[in-house]
Amino acid sequence: MAQQRIFSGVKPTGHLTLGNYLGAMRQWAQEDQYRADALFCVVDLHALTVDHDPARVRRLTRQAATLLMATGLDPETCTLFVQSHVDEHTRLAYLMECTATDGEMRRMIQYKEKAARERERGGSVRLSLLTYPALMAADILAYGTDEVPVGEDQTQHVELTRDLAVRFNQRYGHTFVVPRATNPKVAARVMDLQDPMSKMGKSHARTAGIVYLLDEPEVVRKKVMRAVTDAASDVVYDRAERPGVANLLDVLAACTGRDPRGLAEEYDSYGALKKDTAEAVVEMLRPVQERHGELAADPSYVDGVLRAGAERARTMARPRVDAAYRAVGLLG
Ligand code: TYM
Repeated sequence: MAQQRIFSGVKPTGHLTLGNYLGAMRQWAQEDQYRADALFCVVDLHALTVDHDPARVRRLTRQAATLLMATGLDPETCTLFVQSHVDEHTRLAYLMECTATDGEMRRMIQYKEKAARERERGGSVRLSLLTYPALMAADILAYGTDEVPVGEDQTQHVELTRDLAVRFNQRYGHTFVVPRATNPKVAARVMDLQDPMSKMGKSHARTAGIVYLLDEPEVVRKKVMRAVTDAASDVVYDRAERPGVANLLDVLAACTGRDPRGLAEEYDSYGALKKDTAEAVVEMLRPVQERHGELAADPSYVDGVLRAGAERARTMARPRVDAAYRAVGLLG
């Protein structure tokens, strides 16, 4: 069988979090890049779907790429690049907009939540926030991707991508591989430490419940020790009834390779659980932070990796996107 192709990405809308790491980036670095022909992308165009400061997007894009390398992505082993450097993404996104319906787009949970939040603040919703999944489908389908390793919150977008691939292939002839989403076994949805009913999200305004990958050890400890737990005081793993404690158990399990239910049996106080979780997170992040420090001191090296990655990605995407243009009836 031909080697599987993997594609995934992160959006530079904020500093990357423990959720991004445990839900996605860690697997990319430790497993995915070695078992498949893998591409990882900083999806900067997606960062323009909400209010943004150009200088900040530029800074966060470079920081995300540097962090991806710091987690262990090896530019000799996988392809690491920035979305806007490869025009094929936007070329194909238009064909995806011509394949999807507006109803499909409006049903996306992420759109509904983000649009509601924006309207609550009295702001307006960019059209690109609605069409975002068409660009995301293009990101994936341009490369003949088999597998998309993501956290749980992105599964719906990958399901839509599947539908679009199937529909396009039926209408215009076989063009796209139909991809599947994969999630990690534990910590596929890391929750906010201050609000364990909400996902830990990098662009949330309140940061006390968000562990950032570049937080100093003392800051990580403080955030974990202050995590909201429940009124009861025994340690049981129950995501629905005891979300705060379950979240800590998930994080500790993900850091230590253990099972959250088994871990619950070993603790009889929240204090001890929090302490061990804080230390496990600090130790897990330590080598990533060290490597980030080294790489950040040499931005021209990182830029060179991104340029070479874009070159390679373009070569991979071009033939399929050209074929899609011809298939829909455009003169090739
Ligand atoms: P983004 O930037 O929000 O998140 C990047 C990855 O991190 C995962 N993730 C989480 N996992 C567990 N718990 C959390 N709290 C948590 N927060 C984030 C996400 O599921 C994701 O895997 N739309 C995508 C970016 C994208 C993309 C793509 C991904 C654009 N095109 C094509 C895959 C393939 C996003 O906003 O990810």
